[in-house]
Amino acid sequence: MTSAANIRVDVHLDPDQLRAALRTEARAGLTASPKQLSPKWFYDERGCELFEAITRLPEYYPTRREQEILTENAAAIAELTGADTVVELGSGTSAKTRTLLDAFAARGRLERFVAFDLSEPTLRAAAASIAKGYPGIALHAVVGDFDHHLGDLPGGGRRLVAFLGGTIGNLGPDRRASFLKELATSLRPGDSFLLGTDLVKDVARLEAAYDDSAGVTAMFNLNVLAVLNRDLGADFDLHRFHHVARFDVEREWIEMALRSTTDQVVTVADLDLRVPFATGEEMRTEISAKFRRSGLEAEMQAAGLELARWWTDTAGDFALSLWTPAGAGLGSPSPG
Ligand code: SAH
Ligand code: AVI
Repeated sequence: MTSAANIRVDVHLDPDQLRAALRTEARAGLTASPKQLSPKWFYDERGCELFEAITRLPEYYPTRREQEILTENAAAIAELTGADTVVELGSGTSAKTRTLLDAFAARGRLERFVAFDLSEPTLRAAAASIAKGYPGIALHAVVGDFDHHLGDLPGGGRRLVAFLGGTIGNLGPDRRASFLKELATSLRPGDSFLLGTDLVKDVARLEAAYDDSAGVTAMFNLNVLAVLNRDLGADFDLHRFHHVARFDVEREWIEMALRSTTDQVVTVADLDLRVPFATGEEMRTEISAKFRRSGLEAEMQAAGLELARWWTDTAGDFALSLWTPAGAGLGSPSPG
């Protein structure tokens, strides 16, 4: 644990551990058939910057839609939950979260903000910036992977755990189920869970959001190869892979992949691995599931979570929903 000013930083994943995890996962993914990589490897500093650029693209509606819902309903969320602690998973820059923090602060009961993310530089910068804007609250940054460190999230107080942006959709169905179960188990009576989910919609709009005309999402996708080059001594030629994004109508998810434009063999020096790619072969780099209310309610119920509120933006593109442990309800909000 390290601290500066009123910021506590817990590092469960230092750069060496992150690289060790990358080695293990990259070996498994590059030798699998079909090849795949986890989307978590997008988010080095450059990847985080590219994601921020994506959120400003005209085609990428989720961030703006979720912001609209937050602006409209943050005061109600603060009132309903009565939380004194906001915990954010996959927090990134926490840009939208400020709308929530403002609403909680306005009730005069915000005591603590906990931000949890894989990217230590992004987390430190976000925590420093929030510390300036909210001088009276305790700030706790947790560097970790929600595949491994959900159990390390600090308890105490009355917590609202927020998972925004639709990042839940980047987990496959099985992983999502285990994630939700673990999270539900960690909630105490009085705690609640705020979830952002992108909704099923017109395929052309979905595919445009993941294949923008400026090519920013393509750069974001290809950046994962630059991560493997830098951190594992690989020799991927980024010009020999093409960004692919398509909506799978059966599974209702966007699938992003990198398609080899030629027959080639890539060397990953640190893994002592030679990886052949055939022309046209695709390596999956991300799924981004899109939800329907009924399906999400069933998944959450299986995890032991009950719907308390469901909000969408005016266009019905994105949903923000509030959940409590089954049987616990929202309880009586503490006086504010
Ligand atoms: N919540 C923000 C950022 C979304 S981008 C928003 O709504 O705009 C996804 C974020 O999740 C990135 O900051 C990335 O570093 C983080 N992330 C991705 N996989 C993760 C994992 N397995 N564990 C922890 N954080 C993860
Ligand atoms: C972080 N996550 C919710 C984004 C998404 O929409 O699935 C990541 C992203 N991938 C491509 N564009 C944005």
